[in-house]
Amino acid sequence: MPKTRIILDTDPGADDALAILLMLASPEIQLEAITTVHGNVTIDKTTRNALALLEFLDAKNIPAAQGCSLPLVKPPHQPKGEMVHGSSGMGRANLPEPTLKPIETHAVDHLIERFLAEPKELTLFAIGPLTNVALAIRKEPKFAQAVKELVIMGGAIRSGGNVTPLAEFNISEDPHAAHIVFNSGIPITLIPLDATYKCLLTSADIERLNKIDSPIARFVRDVTADYMAFYLKYEGFAGCALHDPLTAATVIAPELLSIEQHYVNVDISGGVSTGKTYADFMKAAKKPANMKVALDVKGREFVDMFLRRVTTFAKQHT
Ligand code: RIB
Ligand code: CA
Repeated sequence: MPKTRIILDTDPGADDALAILLMLASPEIQLEAITTVHGNVTIDKTTRNALALLEFLDAKNIPAAQGCSLPLVKPPHQPKGEMVHGSSGMGRANLPEPTLKPIETHAVDHLIERFLAEPKELTLFAIGPLTNVALAIRKEPKFAQAVKELVIMGGAIRSGGNVTPLAEFNISEDPHAAHIVFNSGIPITLIPLDATYKCLLTSADIERLNKIDSPIARFVRDVTADYMAFYLKYEGFAGCALHDPLTAATVIAPELLSIEQHYVNVDISGGVSTGKTYADFMKAAKKPANMKVALDVKGREFVDMFLRRVTTFAKQHT
């Protein structure tokens, strides 16, 4: 079975780190490059974290390109991200300062170069705000048709939001970028909160994982510590949602996802519902579906799969 060749646009971020770990632990996936974007923390920190993760996870051969530091239009609201992911963006994990450097090329240009060099061969995963992806679409008219598939962690369809009552963080952090991406014609699969909130990694899972004496197991414990504390304080649950890692299920376990095709767009009107993603279930707009949407998932099965693969990877990296 040929591997799915992936370029990952990310704002590490605790769950971004777990997504990168799961991708590297999955033989079905070939992670070819990382592009960083503002989001959970500032771009200097998301880029530093991406480089530190590549070194820590024995993936120094994968290039990383630094991307946009601000949303297209609205000002960023950092404090939210740091509350969940810690001031470094890596929770309580202390990864060594990376020796790796980002490549010279800006993330937007790197995305354009890579996808135009091999049209319809590469899959783009976007698990942070969509600023880099939107600018690649606007800067190079051929970019959209060169992307084989775009898998996005983002949005809240029937679910409430996690950064406003209505909007999910990645979309809310740059709703104008999301609007460009959603209306670009790229084949999109959206993994919204409706599914990701059903994939809860518990403190009991973390304890089980740490029966292995491995720096990877300890990293998973440490990087999720602030995340879990946040959920316990604000949502009354000792665990954390595997938002970003669930995107990998589109490749490694599609049977766990309940996918529907819908016309989905995002509110950019500037009012209280700005950043809200909505699916036109009643086909009121009379527009064709523009994406596949995961509206449900077998959450516990996905979390168990995540733990099995991370355990295997941890045993190989003691
Ligand atoms: O809403 C969850 C998303 O926002 C995840 O990508 C998380 O890393 C944050 O960026
Ligand atoms: Ca993220």
